[in-house]
Amino acid sequence: MKITTVETSRVSTIDFNNLPFGQICTDHMYVADYRNGKWEEGEIMPLQNFSIHPANLALHYGQSIFEGMKASKHHDGTPLLFRVEEHAHRINASAERMCMPTIPVDMFVEAISAIVGLESAWIPPQEGSALYIRPFMFATEEFVGVRPSEEYKFVIFTCPVGPYYSKPVSLRAEDKYVRATPGGVGEAKTCGNYAASLYPAMKAKEAGYDQVMWMDPYEFKYIQEVGTMNIFFVIDGKVYTPGLNGAILHGITRKSMIQLLEDKGYKVIAEKLSLDFVVDAYESGTLQEVFGTGTAAVISTVNKIAAGDTIINIDPSTYKIAPMLKATIDGMRTGSVADPYGWITRVESL
Ligand code: COI
Repeated sequence: MKITTVETSRVSTIDFNNLPFGQICTDHMYVADYRNGKWEEGEIMPLQNFSIHPANLALHYGQSIFEGMKASKHHDGTPLLFRVEEHAHRINASAERMCMPTIPVDMFVEAISAIVGLESAWIPPQEGSALYIRPFMFATEEFVGVRPSEEYKFVIFTCPVGPYYSKPVSLRAEDKYVRATPGGVGEAKTCGNYAASLYPAMKAKEAGYDQVMWMDPYEFKYIQEVGTMNIFFVIDGKVYTPGLNGAILHGITRKSMIQLLEDKGYKVIAEKLSLDFVVDAYESGTLQEVFGTGTAAVISTVNKIAAGDTIINIDPSTYKIAPMLKATIDGMRTGSVADPYGWITRVESL
């Protein structure tokens, strides 16, 4: 792989103790082009702008998908990746749904490893911080008309980040707008899903809530997910999360946490989950925890949900499962907790 580095890195100008989420990018990016039915050799180059034709198909018809991953550092300084192959499979599932070319898993892993290895000095060692990795692919052909592009770019850039949520999150169960419907593109990590969430999220913020809790598109009765994470409830010692139904993002943190919980002996129920069931649990005093999972959010506690006329107030300082999961995943990401699953991949610094 061709690698062109910057003359002077900006890393020494960064205050790693005060990292905002998503505002600082590292020095380099990886770019590979898809042309004539195949991926060309990718290369790493200094982070720079692209020049885009006004008729770029992604801008008009939305062929654009992405992933979110994190790299951390082992106590011995080795960069570590979390479930890199799962992310390769998920970007390919998104690609298929959006009629875009898939990326060979080896190419994906090699590209992620190369950029993280090169930017290893940017991985923040502080607890709760990480190097966020943003692989994405978008159509690059210029054409006016609705059909799949014949050309694409696969790009990876990285950002040192602090926590996405630095305090517990409040949610409003949506009763008017819809994120996704089975058969739509809700399972794909495609840009339009996030664009569609902006207006309802703004309305929720105006009403004093941090995020929208999406409900099913037919009756607004069954919980789907939160704009930035999958959602879990602990009720009477059992853990509930909405089952994947064709409209919910296949969260890699979600899947990992379900496995961890089951292996620790918890009963996890990943099925259709009604808001009424959660409200009843709250009213009868059996709702013990509410938290979200996601790459950016990791494990983020929820302290309030507006559920129609009921306002659920719950105190995260009483939670036991969410902090245990967070400590386990954070520990795996620094090597202080064993990884019996093979989720962690070590990367060579370049
Ligand atoms: C992620 O968790 O990586 C996402 O893409 C969600 C977004 C809120 C940053």
